Amino acid sequence: MQKKWWHGKTAYQIYPKSFFDTNGDGIGDLRGVISKLDYLQELGIEIVWLSPVYCSPLADQGYDISDYYDIDPRFGTMADMEELISEGRKRGISIVMDLVVNHCSDEHVWFQKACADPDGPYGQYFYIRDWHEGERLPCNWRSYFGGPVWDLLPGHTDKVYFHAFHKKQPDLNWENPLLRREIYRMINWWLDKGLGGFRIDAIINIKKLLPFCDLPADRDDGLCSIKTMLARTDGVNVFLREMAEETFHRYDAFSVGEVFNEKTEDLPLIIGDDGYFSSMFDFSEHLIGMDARGWYAWTQPTAEEYKRAAFTAQKRSAGVGFFSNIIENHDEPRGVSHYLPQGERSEAAKKMIGGLNFMLRGLPFLYQGQEIGMENMDRWELSQFDDINTLDEYKVALRAGLSHEEAIAAISPYSRDNARTPFQWDGTENAGFTTGIPWLPVNPNYRTVNLLQQRGRDDSVYEFYRSLISLRKNAAYAETVVYGETEPYCCGQRNLMAYFRRGERCLLVAGNFQKEVQDMPMPGPMKKLLLNNMDKLELKEKALRLEGWQFVVMEI
Ligand code: NOJ
Ligand code: CA
Repeated sequence: MQKKWWHGKTAYQIYPKSFFDTNGDGIGDLRGVISKLDYLQELGIEIVWLSPVYCSPLADQGYDISDYYDIDPRFGTMADMEELISEGRKRGISIVMDLVVNHCSDEHVWFQKACADPDGPYGQYFYIRDWHEGERLPCNWRSYFGGPVWDLLPGHTDKVYFHAFHKKQPDLNWENPLLRREIYRMINWWLDKGLGGFRIDAIINIKKLLPFCDLPADRDDGLCSIKTMLARTDGVNVFLREMAEETFHRYDAFSVGEVFNEKTEDLPLIIGDDGYFSSMFDFSEHLIGMDARGWYAWTQPTAEEYKRAAFTAQKRSAGVGFFSNIIENHDEPRGVSHYLPQGERSEAAKKMIGGLNFMLRGLPFLYQGQEIGMENMDRWELSQFDDINTLDEYKVALRAGLSHEEAIAAISPYSRDNARTPFQWDGTENAGFTTGIPWLPVNPNYRTVNLLQQRGRDDSVYEFYRSLISLRKNAAYAETVVYGETEPYCCGQRNLMAYFRRGERCLLVAGNFQKEVQDMPMPGPMKKLLLNNMDKLELKEKALRLEGWQFVVMEI
């Protein structure tokens, strides 16, 4: 496997709206990100992915772009963006933007022109079909945010357009070479500004099964998940190879795909040496417990399921390329709330789940607030939710027969709002995020869980993440931490997740994924203890006694 400039780094996702607000309007902004670059450098971050800051009506919080060439005034200006790129560079931090090109906003000029003249050139930028009242829609696929993927084209009663996500996010027609050229021009325009690369949104959806046709319904709404369509479609690789060659590869830019439902045999094409992306997120742990019926039917992952999913992903990517490893992002629950049982979210347990994930082979991505152990926020009223996806899943739960209270309780743990609450900088009002009214309420636990309380405290979650990152950069261990092969250890021992990282040296990573003590046989003598989330280490001759939630990294 070829070595790449970004392999040894640690990446960090910023959700700008909730990171730091500098002008008191309750919305995080680019000046807020610039002002925290020193903080990110102190943590050890070298790649920052910004969720979208382009002009947008924010129907889906910026994943609905109305102008790819400008910054939304709520986030700042183009000058701020340019300053962020150059100030990042001074600190060794590459800035990566979100690339949302499966769809744009219905307020984008392309869509407005398409509505004005569906038979003109911009009509070909979208999927628009004739339809008359009483007729069947062109296909029965369900949009990710609920309901059919088709809606009436604004200004028309006899035409519909396709949207895989919200109706304010019309899908772009990648079959049209003119559209593809426009996209590549835009990507290169940003790369010419010195951007480090892109995180590529929802990209697997750009190839549709054409001509549109009905597929077997999977719920009583008569609709079918788009995932069924994706499984039957070929050809996305052709578009993505072309995009990489026309853009990223020319700049040696970093690219990380939001790729779900990929075909295993395609992995080398995606993240191999000459893959079209540098990396892709590994969502295998996140997929545990999902149920096609809806969030109300989802279940929390167990330690054993987590371990199996992680090891399977490590095996799939071994010798091929680097997955990007996460425990959370802006679409998912907080990792510590999702993977740890209720009542077990101690600092030690938070470090364990973070450490087990961070030490896997691949590129570690932290999501803002993860480094201080931010948690889900309990919500009891529908009015407390902002996220469009959650509002749809509430309806799905009601249709399945749950009461209002049951529906809220069932969907709340999976709401995308959990990860979107403002960053908890300190224990002052609004967690120091804003002097105004935050756009989304702060998690009430900010008085105890905040950066100020943890910075400089040796046993804090924050300082633990700093140690993990510095181990990854430590000249003596970096080769092993970055490139060492992963080999599961004592895999059959329940609720123990342990693995070797074998490179120039041999590291043993172990986490006791339960509250009870357990012994792990030692594979040989310990040469050096590198990390321990507890004060004590009970090493007997042939076994290591691990306290509940204990996590260690040792050289053996
Ligand atoms: C994935 C993004 O991460 C999510 O936030 C968004 O809603 C969809 N793609 C649509 O762009
Ligand atoms: Ca602001």
